[in-house]
Amino acid sequence: MSDEIGLCLCAMIHVVTQRLNLTLLTSMTKSDTILNNLCVKDFRSVQSQYFSTSLRKLPFKQQFESFIRMFSSRPPCNVGDSVTDVETPALLVCLKKLEQNLNTLKEAMKAYPSVKLRPHAKTHKCAMLARLQIQSGAVGLCCQKLTEAEALVQGGIQDVLLSNQVINKKKLLRLASLARSAHIAVCVDSERNIEDLSEAAKTLDVMLDIVIEVNVGGFRCGVEPGPDVARLAKKVMSLPNIRFKGLHCYNGRNQHIRSLADRQAAVNEVIEKTKLALSALKESEIECNYVTGGGTGTFHLEAASEVFTEVQPGSYVFMDVDYGLNLDGEEKFVSEFQQSLYILSTVQSVAENRAIVDVGLKAVSLDSGVPTVKNSGDQVYISGGDEHGVIVPPGDLKVGDQLWLIPGHCDPTVNMHEWIVGMRDGRVESIWPIGGKGPGI
Ligand SMILES: Cc1ncc(COP(=O)(O)O)c(C=O)c1O
Repeated sequence: MSDEIGLCLCAMIHVVTQRLNLTLLTSMTKSDTILNNLCVKDFRSVQSQYFSTSLRKLPFKQQFESFIRMFSSRPPCNVGDSVTDVETPALLVCLKKLEQNLNTLKEAMKAYPSVKLRPHAKTHKCAMLARLQIQSGAVGLCCQKLTEAEALVQGGIQDVLLSNQVINKKKLLRLASLARSAHIAVCVDSERNIEDLSEAAKTLDVMLDIVIEVNVGGFRCGVEPGPDVARLAKKVMSLPNIRFKGLHCYNGRNQHIRSLADRQAAVNEVIEKTKLALSALKESEIECNYVTGGGTGTFHLEAASEVFTEVQPGSYVFMDVDYGLNLDGEEKFVSEFQQSLYILSTVQSVAENRAIVDVGLKAVSLDSGVPTVKNSGDQVYISGGDEHGVIVPPGDLKVGDQLWLIPGHCDPTVNMHEWIVGMRDGRVESIWPIGGKGPGI
């Protein structure tokens, strides 16, 4: 087959899949057959894979099938299916609980009228869910990886903060290209990165907002709160096609400090460091009216600080076992947000002292502990390796039974799946592609 015909074919399929993805994202109507199994991937990469030499040696039919496979991913069910028909392992979200969480946060933010909400999409990496967050009062979304930013912008999100550093000139051009259709801000902590960002934005004739990341105790990225903050802000202001927006002051570890008093003490340190960074800017007569940070565990505290102008909770949409262990002011487990995310598993084997489910390391992350079993008092999950989970004791579980597992840590668990299956009253109501999943190239 000639390159021209192949190109035409690529273009046609690309257009069809774009339309289908749009259907999935906007109407969430009944999904069906192979058409629903297509999802959009970057056209250029598909095209270059399609024309790779190894593929071109294959007969046309095989070329075509490989091509389709390249950008197809089969969801585990169809809209309208009963939960018992969902193929497992599958990532389920209880839509009622999810909607409650969106609403709870919207209501909670009313206590801080001068503080904006920019939820973090690293939790779900899904444009459809991001759109629900915008409908629920968010001014925009945060994300942590360029691929997440691309998924959000392709899915119609107009305002994205990449709360991380993007290094590599090709990636910077990809980032800058997003600014053609959305408002893009990105974190920096080095002069070299600022220069490269300016160059990329100038090449594509776009404007990028630049947020200086401050080390407020997380000892990850970020400059120390002091003269370095002013030095970087001045650098930003000296270069074309980039604009100084403000400060990023986030400490992830604080989110999971169990007692509220200890969390408050830790956030007080963040606030003090943020004030130091602001003073350094003031001394250099640099105006700053944007300070962003805070997650599900601490956003109330940053929002009440009168220093932060924006908060970025992420996990609140789904929650997980680890977050469920945080305590409130009365030393009770926090109950502000509901558990909405589950991994649906199937029992594949039962022995006298154990049952085995089809959820292992490929379907659930264990970095914050094992999943728990929904509605089960004494049954525990023990890791059985890549594909298996061991449930002890087996109780009256039988082969073919389904078990709902609550992930220990929602973000990396979602990253292992391709689709979020939305359930209401035991039926599949929506199937959303997790467009930003993966290592985040
Ligand atoms: C920079 C940043 N902001 C916000 C969040 C959201 O935190 P959480 O999911 O705990 O709400 C994260 C999560 O890791 C993060 O890295």
